[in-house]
Amino acid sequence: MNILVGITGGIAAYKAPLLVRLLRKAGHEVKCVATEHALQFVTPLTLETVSGNKLYADLFATDNDHTTEHISLKDWGDMMVVAPATANIIGKMASGIGDDALSTLLLSLSRKPILLAPAMNTQMWENAAVQRNIGYLRSIGVEIVEPADGDLACGTSGTGRMAEPEEIFECVNALMCKRVSADASNTNTFTHSHINTLFKRVLVTAGPTYERIDAVRFIGNYSSGKMGFALAEALAKQGAEVELVTGPTALKCNHPNIHRTDVESAREMFDAATKLFPSCQAAILSAAVADYRPEHTADHKLKKQGSEGMTLTLVQNPDILATLGKMKQEGQMLIGFALETDNEMENAQQKLERKNLDYIVLNSLRDAGAGFGVDTNRVTIIGRDGSTHTTPLLSKAQVAEEIVAHCLKK
Ligand code: CTP
Repeated sequence: MNILVGITGGIAAYKAPLLVRLLRKAGHEVKCVATEHALQFVTPLTLETVSGNKLYADLFATDNDHTTEHISLKDWGDMMVVAPATANIIGKMASGIGDDALSTLLLSLSRKPILLAPAMNTQMWENAAVQRNIGYLRSIGVEIVEPADGDLACGTSGTGRMAEPEEIFECVNALMCKRVSADASNTNTFTHSHINTLFKRVLVTAGPTYERIDAVRFIGNYSSGKMGFALAEALAKQGAEVELVTGPTALKCNHPNIHRTDVESAREMFDAATKLFPSCQAAILSAAVADYRPEHTADHKLKKQGSEGMTLTLVQNPDILATLGKMKQEGQMLIGFALETDNEMENAQQKLERKNLDYIVLNSLRDAGAGFGVDTNRVTIIGRDGSTHTTPLLSKAQVAEEIVAHCLKK
């Protein structure tokens, strides 16, 4: 593929050559387009050397290959990624301004996929005008790799760091896959997927649920959401569109194939999951859903009631997994999780039958390094036919890839 890499004037411009190298190593042709300010941070010689092509930075340079270079580059490129994207270029794009080489090229690219990797100080990122511009660009189909949290060049820390080049590279791949599958008649051009391409849209639930007691208190659990987010990432990387329904968590997901719905309670998760499931070919429910919720919730903060204690009556929440098991149609796949401490295999197998699942992923709390909050996990995947597959202790990202490869393989 021919990829245009735009670079604007932020300190993260020093990472742009790394992105260019990743793209070249993956076999893409790359041409760089930089703003005048970007060249304060990264030199033309660096960009030309890593891309293997002439840099385009001046609309009126007499040594440009064409007099209307922005138009010929628009025809050459299959997509464009701008990394870093400053608030300035985001504002120009949202307003349709073309006053230099990069902004005129972006204006002319309206029919090609564009991916932005914003990078700026936290207050600039949170600025109402910047957020409005981002919202508008999203609404017209521009993809955004959200900035990460971390140390910023201005000495503070917060949201605003450009996503790492590896992450941007993954997003470029996903965008290209999206484009290839949208190019209708091409049925086999999406080659690097090892999941069955029948699984185009997959629902994933993640995280804990919070069940409100009053205006300031809730019943929750220790689930971090890491396993579900890792599953969503693994699926998205392989080209699936992911509907991620998550309970409260601090985790972020950047992949353009992941559509996130944030919920708080089990009933909200139930509503979102049952609405989305009919349009998905598979669902993996990894959320730690509260089995019970307080019968009554107060809008205000409940006052202490003296020394005699307090009794909370709990009522049962709907079982999302079992409900999807009843809704399941021919051709849909349903995967659940089980967290067991005793008679693990037997209980998990019964759960698989009872909830009409195709696979159940058994987490054992007995394994050191597995379970809530930690970054590693070890699971046994049990199939409907009684087959089992146990992973070693792996990172949650690796476990997610194993689950996806095992259950949704060709
Ligand atoms: N689950 C769900 N909705 C609920 C409870 C659980 O979708 N209200 C899903 C979880 O996401 C997980 C699976 O069901 O995929 C297993 O949940 P678990 O709590 O282990 O099983 P239960 O059926 O609730 O049984 P028990 O608590 O008795 O083990």
